This record gives sequence, structure tokens and C-alpha cells, in this order.
Amino acid sequence: MFTRYFTTLLFLALSVASLPVEEPLLIVPLSKHVRSSQSGHIVQDAQMRATALRHAGVLQTRADAPNPAPVPLTDAATIYTAEIGVGSPSTKYNLIVDTGSSNTWIGNGRAYVKTATSNYTGCAVSVAYGSGAFSGKEYTDTVTLGSGMQITGQSIGVASSSRGFNGGHDGILGLGPVELTADTVDGVNLVPTVTDNLSSQKKIKQNLIAVSLQPVNSTVANLPNGEMSFGQTNPAKFTGAIEYFPITRTSPSSMYWGVDHSITYGKQQILTGAAGIVDTGSTLTLIPSGERICNFRFPKVSKLTDLPQDAFELYKKATGGVLDRPTGLLKLTSVQYANLQPLNFVINGKTFALSPNAQIWPRALNQNIGGQAGFIYLTVADIKTPSGDGFDTIMGMSFLERFYSVYDTTNKRVGLASTAWTNLEVN
Ligand SMILES: *[C@@H]1O[C@H](CO)[C@@H](O)[C@H](O)[C@H]1NC(C)=O
Ligand SMILES: *[C@@H]1O[C@H](CO)[C@@H](O)[C@H](O)[C@H]1NC(C)=O
Ligand SMILES: *[C@@H]1O[C@H](CO)[C@@H](O)[C@H](O)[C@H]1NC(C)=O
Repeated sequence: MFTRYFTTLLFLALSVASLPVEEPLLIVPLSKHVRSSQSGHIVQDAQMRATALRHAGVLQTRADAPNPAPVPLTDAATIYTAEIGVGSPSTKYNLIVDTGSSNTWIGNGRAYVKTATSNYTGCAVSVAYGSGAFSGKEYTDTVTLGSGMQITGQSIGVASSSRGFNGGHDGILGLGPVELTADTVDGVNLVPTVTDNLSSQKKIKQNLIAVSLQPVNSTVANLPNGEMSFGQTNPAKFTGAIEYFPITRTSPSSMYWGVDHSITYGKQQILTGAAGIVDTGSTLTLIPSGERICNFRFPKVSKLTDLPQDAFELYKKATGGVLDRPTGLLKLTSVQYANLQPLNFVINGKTFALSPNAQIWPRALNQNIGGQAGFIYLTVADIKTPSGDGFDTIMGMSFLERFYSVYDTTNKRVGLASTAWTNLEVN
């Protein structure tokens, strides 16, 4: 009798525990590709992307934006890709997951396979990404995400020519704000993004995406180590609560997933009143420097010693890092690494601390970026412009591999949360 009672109880408990959540999570796995880049390119590419993002953001806020507006490139050292289906029956394409641009396009690698759902819009598309570009034709087609969620009539670009993109992917899944698509398709004001149409077709409750990336120190190509969920967050991928922050009003960061924040290194304040963006398409975390100031900003500067100490100079001095020519990154001795302090991004009173281990490039991957085995390189680099221009920082993969991130279009906010690997020793 007791057995039966307990079996019933157990059955009840199990059914409660396995009650379906309101709506199944729409999850798309992400894979990390670490490429070998030539010496120094990791920093140059990151700075070029920053320049392109800033430039595109400024142009988008002006009424007289030229046509087509340049939008950001995707830098080379590491990319995250998602497998997306296009057509019916669908063909799978590996697309770069990019929160810094908003056009979705295919045709860089695998050619477009047309099916009955392919519909040429009659319009040309062209997007310039700073160092790369593609042009082609805009189609609408059925797009399949994850294990079968379909969006019908999704606008996608099909490249007939592209340059400046390395292999390993078939195009880009643009997850940035729709405004960044302005003037990319002939005769069309804005091109609805994949998340816009998931939302307008009521496939997701809220127009948001959440991204979980995990740090890796392996050279295995195509490592599945992340996921993106559409419409809902996945509680299995973060710890504690998600903190939400309104998109900054400071232009041009306001054109992206930008937030107002400050930075401390250990207890030392190194940046205040800054606006910066979270960006899945940037490998590094970039902070402002005063070193390359132009004369018009600081006309009185004549000696090097007069140069203002911006966040990067302060960080460099405090860590003791020296600029390493081959990689372009700051290099530490093991003693300096042992003394490394947390780098804290303080957003609206909440602190997101990059642990010492989170601040360094995975040592197993040193050779991939033109570095030497056994050396310690910092992934926090110089954005190449002084603070105060409205685009002070980029919190790239080295940040996003430690914190869960939410891109909430419905509520115009960015969410961040700790993860089980925020403070893990991986690198
Ligand atoms: C193709 O697009 C046109 C206009 O954009 C639309 O009227 C037509 O229904 C579409 N056809 C398919 C098969 O989706
Ligand atoms: C895509 O989304 C936009 C804006 O949310 C909407 O205007 C458009 O009708 C949608 N297209 C389809 C095919 O659902
Ligand atoms: C790689 O990371 C794992 C933990 O995820 C760790 O055990 C291992 O020692 C790391 N390897 C290197 C070479 O850093």
C-alpha cells in the first residue's frame, strides 16, 4: 500500500517537474571557429570593425546617409556560426552570427539552392562591411531555425559576388537592429530581420534573442560550444538573475546593442561615463586610448608626456603589459599574470567582472594569432580612439564567453547574467 502511495506521489512529482514550459525553447546551436590569422591581424581586424561600426552608426543617425550605407565587417580571428535552413525542402547554410549587422544573406560558400518557395523580389542588394562587401539579389524564402521552426517569406540576400570574407561560412545571420539595413536593398527602406519576422509571424512571444557562448581552449575546428535562443531565455545557461539595461541614448552606440557603463581595473577607475556595445562579431574586448589623438581634439599637445591617459593606457600601466609586435596584443609575464586584477564593467550599478583568466587569450591558441607558445596575451585591446565619442568600448567574444547576453528588441534593452563558467580557469 505504501509502495503504491509512493509510486503515485512519485508519479505526481515527476509530472509536475516535467510540465511543459509555456512555449518550447527555440534553440539554435552555435559553433566556434578559430582561424589562423596572420601576425598582428587580430588587433587590426578588431579595430577596423570598430571603425566601421562607429562610422555606420554615425551615418544611420543622419538624414543624408549615403546609399548604400556601410555596415560593419566581421573580423577574422574567431567566428561563431549557426546552421540555418533556407527553402523547402531546406538547404543548410552555416551563417556567421552577427549582432553588429542586420542583413541576412547566403552565397559566400554554398550556392543558393532554389525551391518552390524561392521568390526573387526584383531588387538588388549590396552591403559594404568595411574591409569586405557583398552584392547580389534580394529574395524572399522560407527560413528554418533549429529543429523546424519556419519563417515564411523571409527577406534574404543572395550574393553573386563577395569579397573580403574568409571561408568557413556561407554568409551572415544579421541580428542587429533593423535600422542598420537602411538603403541596402534597392527601393526598400528597411529589410525586416529574421527576429522581426519570427515576431510578426507570432512564432516567438517576444522579439528577443539570447546568446550563450562558452570559452574554449581547443583548436578543434567547428567546436559546438554555444547556443542562441529566440523569443525566450534559457535558464539552463545562466546563474542568478539576468540584469537588464536600457539601450544607451548616446550615439552612435545607440544604433547597436549599446549600454552606458564605466570600467574599473581592480579598485582603480579607468573609464567613466562611457557608452559601448556588446557584439558577437568582435573577437576582442576593446577600450579607448588617448595615444593616437588628432591635433584638432587636443591642439595643445606637443610632448608625448602630455598625452591624456585614457582607459587603455591606464590598463596597460596597471597590468604591466607590453605591446607585442607579432600579435598586436599586450603581453604579460607569468608574475604579472599572477597579479592580474579583475576588469569590471559597471553598468547601472551592476558589476560584470572579467576574471584574470577571462582577460587572456587561450594559451593553447597562441600560434593561431601569430603568438608564441607559453606566452600570455591579453584580449583587452585598444579601440584606437579616445573616450567620449559615443563609441567607447566593444564587449566582444572574450566578454560574451563569460556572460550570458540577451538582445531584447521588444523592450529596447540588453540583458546580462553570470554563467557557470564566468570565473572558470580555461585559458
Ligand atoms: C512572391 O512575392 C510576391 C510579391 O513580393 C508575392 O505577391 C507572391 O505571393 C510571392 N510568392 C511566393 C511563392 O511567396
Ligand atoms: C516581416 O516583418 C515585418 C516587420 O516586423 C512585417 O512588416 C512583414 O510583413 C513581415 N513579413 C512577413 C513575410 O511576415
Ligand atoms: C582547457 O580547459 C580545460 C577546462 O575546460 C582545462 O582543464 C585545460 O587544462 C585547459 N587546457 C589548456 C591547454 O589550457
